[in-house]
Amino acid sequence: MRAWVIGLVVAAGGVGLAQDAVPQRPEPTAEQATACATELRVAYVKPPAEWPRPTLDAGVPHRELGLLPDAPHPADNPFSKDRAELGKALFFDPRLSGSGQIACASCHDPDLAWADGRTTSFGHGRTPLKRNAPAVANSAFLPVLFWDGRAASLEDQVKAVLANPDEMRADDKDVTARLAAAPGYPELFEKAFGDRAVTPDRVAKAVACFERTLVGGRSRFDAFLKGRADALTDAEVRGLHLFRTDARCLNCHNGPTLSDGRFHNVGLSYYGRELEDLGRYRITKRAEDVGAFRTPPLRDVGRTGPYMHNGLFELDGVLRMYSAGMLTLRPGEKFKADPLFPAKSVQLKPLGLNKLDLADLEAFLRSLDEPPRRIRPPAVSLPAGARPALSKP
Ligand code: HEC
Ligand code: HEC
Repeated sequence: MRAWVIGLVVAAGGVGLAQDAVPQRPEPTAEQATACATELRVAYVKPPAEWPRPTLDAGVPHRELGLLPDAPHPADNPFSKDRAELGKALFFDPRLSGSGQIACASCHDPDLAWADGRTTSFGHGRTPLKRNAPAVANSAFLPVLFWDGRAASLEDQVKAVLANPDEMRADDKDVTARLAAAPGYPELFEKAFGDRAVTPDRVAKAVACFERTLVGGRSRFDAFLKGRADALTDAEVRGLHLFRTDARCLNCHNGPTLSDGRFHNVGLSYYGRELEDLGRYRITKRAEDVGAFRTPPLRDVGRTGPYMHNGLFELDGVLRMYSAGMLTLRPGEKFKADPLFPAKSVQLKPLGLNKLDLADLEAFLRSLDEPPRRIRPPAVSLPAGARPALSKP
């Protein structure tokens, strides 16, 4: 295999960008593409355990794609319908924020697949945040939360967002006092927890309980997994195979959520530049974690753009970058001796995908989209005056 380097210096700060390249895979004819899909269908209508062997690097466990299980609820926050109902009301309630203007749903909007469609979100007082808002659906299955994994549970995550001065800037005492005085809430707390006390811990538990009910499973890919062979098109079946084999995606995007829950550097730390984000390193302070982010789950991915922790990419752009092996930062003079200079994951290799490959991969990813589900905020979560006006007959 021929390999060459395009040395592309992008910034004066002593950081160069280089890209290893491989020759592009030859473009198949339409007949060849159809024949390939027909052959793959025979293999992929079988249960996932019998699918063709994936291309995995040494040491990577084989976690196959598959249907989502039921969401696990922890012993200290067991599921009840009342608790989830309360959590849903709180999720939509702007009284949870210091300004009284921002709800969880402001940045995790059910109409936008529980994300916000922005490059990066705006927080308290329209403070621009640094990172892209991930969708909260299926977060019940993630071993750690946030792009850098800084929260270990959904309960901790709620407390972190409420307290963050750039996000909701909420004071525990204000929020609990406001909720205790809001018509309807004390009754909901009583149903959910046995008495009317409104505490920060109960707020976090109820919201987390609600989030654990946001479980997908209605995509066309799910229908295919359940045995509906015609649920995926030829392009999507080829894309599924490519995802698991030559495109190497299953090394990191695996299991029912299509995330290994681990941290990898895919070359987007912007080290030494304005958009620098050190990712996991900010939490662990380990040099190998500079620029590493938790593999995002890919369910609903067609609806949760823009992409990556900084929201700077569209889906086709992401795929073209993977095809090129992502970007490799090369230290210039300034960073030659810097022990923190980030290293891209060795699992990323130039793939040389052709046009049909890229289209097939994208088609497969979009088959993971769920049909939208329309949700109205519960009335109790709308402060008086914020209720939608009903037009008079
Ligand atoms: C101002 C916008 C904003 C608001 C309000 C907000 N979030 Fe987020 N949320 C984000 C951003 C941005 C991230 C990613 C931050 C990071 O990883 O550093 C995030 C991350 C998350 C995650 C982690 C998802 C994952 O894949 O790891 C969950 C869960 C979540 N938010 C739930 C909530 C809940 C519950 C609330 C209300 C209590 C809330 N958010 C309020 C913007 C917001
Ligand atoms: C070495 C592990 C690894 C491999 C291999 C890998 N990814 Fe990723 N992927 C990640 C990480 C980590 C991120 C987040 C990176 C960031 O934000 O800086 C990501 C982000 C993404 C995103 C953006 C999702 C979002 O919500 O923002 C998509 C889409 C994606 N990957 C698809 C793929 C596809 C398709 C392949 C195969 C061609 C692939 N990935 C291979 C680890 C990997």
